[in-house]
Amino acid sequence: MVKIVYVNDEYVSASDAKISIFDRGLLFGDSVYEVIPVYNGQVFLADRHIARLNSSLTKARIAIPDREWLPLFAELIRQNGSGDMQIYVQVTRGNQGLRKHDIPAVIKPTIFAFTLHMPYPVTENAQRGLHAKIVEDTRWLRCDIKTTAMLANVLLNDDAVSAGFDTALLTRQGYVSEGSASNVFIVSENDEIITPPLNNLCLPGITRQIILELLATLNLPAREALIPVQDLFSAQEIWITSTTKEIYPVTRINSHQVGDGVAGEIWYKLHKHYQQLVKTL
Ligand code: PDD
Repeated sequence: MVKIVYVNDEYVSASDAKISIFDRGLLFGDSVYEVIPVYNGQVFLADRHIARLNSSLTKARIAIPDREWLPLFAELIRQNGSGDMQIYVQVTRGNQGLRKHDIPAVIKPTIFAFTLHMPYPVTENAQRGLHAKIVEDTRWLRCDIKTTAMLANVLLNDDAVSAGFDTALLTRQGYVSEGSASNVFIVSENDEIITPPLNNLCLPGITRQIILELLATLNLPAREALIPVQDLFSAQEIWITSTTKEIYPVTRINSHQVGDGVAGEIWYKLHKHYQQLVKTL
C-alpha cells in the first residue's frame, strides 16, 4: 500500500513528501511532536494529545498553528487503511532558508504527519515483561517538552539495547526519572504504587495520566513521589507506560529479577481495564 502522509496542507505519497534541508527542525531539532493512539480507526485521547502538543509548542516558543487536527487525523487514518495504528505529528519552527541560531521574528511552522503501524502489546507477550537496564539520565533539563531533539534518548536506549536489554530506565542523581520513551511506575515492597512527580525531568505522559485515573477508580490510589534507584530492586512490580507500549511490565532490571520475574497482579488488573477502555471507543 502506498503510504499517504500530510506535509504543509497537502496529502501526498510518502516518497513525494519534501522538507527543506534548511528547516530548523532538521538543523537544530527545533521542533516538537506527538504520537497519538488509534484503535480500530478511532483516535484515542485526541484532546489530551492536542493539549500537550500546544503546551510543548508554547514552551518551545513556536506559534500554535491554526489547524483543525481532528479532520486531518481522520483523513490520514482513512488513507492508510484504518485499523490499529498511531498518528505521528511534528511541528517544526519552520524553514528559515539559511542556518542561523537566532529565532526569526516571523517564520511559518512546518507541519507534517503520518501514520505509524506499531502493533499494540498482546497479553501473552506482555506478561513475560521487559528486561531493563538502568542508565544515568544524561539528557537536558527540559524533558517536559516533547521535542524531537532526541539524540540523548536514542543513545541511552542504545546503551540498553546493545547490552542485550529491551529498554532503558533512566535515573538522575539516584532517583528514577522515566524510561527512554516511557514513564515508570513501581509497586513498592510496602504495597504502595508510586510514579515520579511531573517536573522538568520527565515527560507528562498521557498514558501515565490515564493509569493514575484508572488506579483511582479501582481504589488503588498511586502516590507521585521520588523513587530512589534502590527501590527498583525491592519493588514487587515495575511498569512502563506509553502510547505504544500502553502499560507494560518490567520483569528484570540489570541482573535482578523483579518480583516473581513475571507480570504482577496489579499489572494484570490495569492491563485488563486499559483494554476495556480502548474498546469503548
Ligand atoms: N514517547 N517519556 C518519554 C521520554 C517518551 O518519549 C514517551 C512517549 C513517554 C510516554 O508518553 P505517552 O504516554 O504520552 O505516550 C514518556 C512516544 C510514544 C514516542 O516517542 O514514540
